[in-house]
Amino acid sequence: MEELALHILDLAQNCIAAGASEIAITIIEDRAANRLTITVADDGRGMEPEMLQSVTDPFFTTRTTRRVGLGLPLLQAAAELCAGGLTIVSTVGRGTTVRVEFAHDHIDRAPLGSMADTLAAILAVNFEVEVVYRHEVDDRAFVFDSRELREICEGTMQHPKIILWLKEYIALQERLLGGEQ
Ligand SMILES: Nc1ncnc2c1ncn2[C@@H]1O[C@H](COP(=O)(O)OP(=O)(O)O)[C@@H](O)[C@H]1O
Ligand SMILES: [Mg+2]
Repeated sequence: MEELALHILDLAQNCIAAGASEIAITIIEDRAANRLTITVADDGRGMEPEMLQSVTDPFFTTRTTRRVGLGLPLLQAAAELCAGGLTIVSTVGRGTTVRVEFAHDHIDRAPLGSMADTLAAILAVNFEVEVVYRHEVDDRAFVFDSRELREICEGTMQHPKIILWLKEYIALQERLLGGEQ
């Protein structure tokens, strides 16, 4: 995929499919350490150990006996290409955390892309889910918690005007943060 933000959208969709009520998306850019780390954690149903093993098995995509998606193996391959990797910690009934790491300056690393679009896409259609987003760039951070917006909007958060405002607000904060876009 051309943008990591699209992979993050895919990870969030996995969380929603797993019945999550809260998704914590954290992006940490540590330029001194040359690291870009993305963590997506949910409180959904989690994965059985066999499932967990199959979703990160590099050969499982060649299987034809079972339909399993490509999202995680593709992201894992992209990270490994950039001196990084993907790890999943999951507990049945409690939730799942996917962590993916890249060398920040790797030539093959896709740009982060628009987190404003990704967050707006998640919140525009998922009425039940709350998102806590944190983007750190060196010693600065931008934090957005959908609960705070929901409180202000008194239940009208999915209104197109509010989603549009949200998109512009996040895009502006991301620009001010001065990290990857
Ligand atoms: N956050 C999650 N919680 C529970 N199960 C998950 C989660 N993420 C992925 N999975 C499981 O791993 C499978 C593979 O995910 P993925 O590679 O994104 O492909 P797809 O979403 O197209 O199935 C999912 O179908 C689901 O069973
Ligand atoms: Mg998926």
